[in-house]
Amino acid sequence: MELAKVLFLMIVICISRVVVGDEMCPRMVEPVVLVHGGAGDIPDSQDQPKLEGVRRAAKAGYAVLAQGGSLLDAVQAAVEVMEDDEAFNAGHGSVLNADGEVEMDAIVMEGTGLNAGAVGAIKNVSHPVYVARLVMENTSHVLLVGDGAKRFANDMGVPDVPMESLITQKAKHALEKFKKSKSNDPTRTELGGVGTVGAVAVDSEGHVVCATSTGGTSGKMVGRVGDTPIPGSGGYSDDQIGTVSTTGVGESIMKVNLAHLVLNIMKQGKTAQEATIEAVNEMTNRVGKTAGAITLSNAGDIGIGFNSKKMAWAYQKGNEVHYGIREGDDFIEQIN
Ligand code: GLY
Repeated sequence: MELAKVLFLMIVICISRVVVGDEMCPRMVEPVVLVHGGAGDIPDSQDQPKLEGVRRAAKAGYAVLAQGGSLLDAVQAAVEVMEDDEAFNAGHGSVLNADGEVEMDAIVMEGTGLNAGAVGAIKNVSHPVYVARLVMENTSHVLLVGDGAKRFANDMGVPDVPMESLITQKAKHALEKFKKSKSNDPTRTELGGVGTVGAVAVDSEGHVVCATSTGGTSGKMVGRVGDTPIPGSGGYSDDQIGTVSTTGVGESIMKVNLAHLVLNIMKQGKTAQEATIEAVNEMTNRVGKTAGAITLSNAGDIGIGFNSKKMAWAYQKGNEVHYGIREGDDFIEQIN
């Protein structure tokens, strides 16, 4: 009897699609929450902490969706897990600017109305991704930076946290290494700064969202804002195609609008996987540096691509969590 009901419903859905078209009759897509924990020359000692962190983040985001939360709730939850985890360069664990301070960037974007909210060079908050969402939902702006971003966060009830609470020994060492190297190029990722975090998600109706959060690059100039809070660079979402979150050196990512480039290539007929790696390689060929990106199409197809040595990633789809950090990895954990 139950099976007959399901079959009947499926037939009705198929007929409706033919009669009223896809827009009136939403697809049934299997929901996915996919996250990354940053691309770059990740030292082997960091593999396990990053893999554990991305798995926890993907599961946290998926649990929110499974309990009826929205897509934005899901990506925010996933990114906040990584902002709280010192294994990543976001929130607690962010790298330091030339003055030894934490200045963070973040974005959220949803693909139905192309609404985005972002913050740049924000200080003294635990979860820049949450402030980015507040910008999207409570202002007519897209991007707030610096003192203005923090004042807005405080006005919305977000408490200040002492900067020291965001600073780790690892971040201090990375800045010392940068200064000793006498390099004036904070885009050299081998000097620290890998570990931007991001999440993308698709629901059963093919709606998509993304979120990305970062501490930027070690030794960056005070006030430097990277790709992360720029729609089309650090993330982009469009229900008509899919959603992307990127990671890598902002100064290169911004020159090609990497997130939007992935979706443009998908628009030309490539799969999410093909488009993700093609866009990342195009960036490297045109402007140098390496990068990574995670992509979901509006049908739930997955793209995970990087041309750096490593990129930690994980996704949950149904009862399976897939994860990896090196080229070719696809470890699977079954959830009961
Ligand atoms: N993609 C992170 C940054 O360059 O700031």
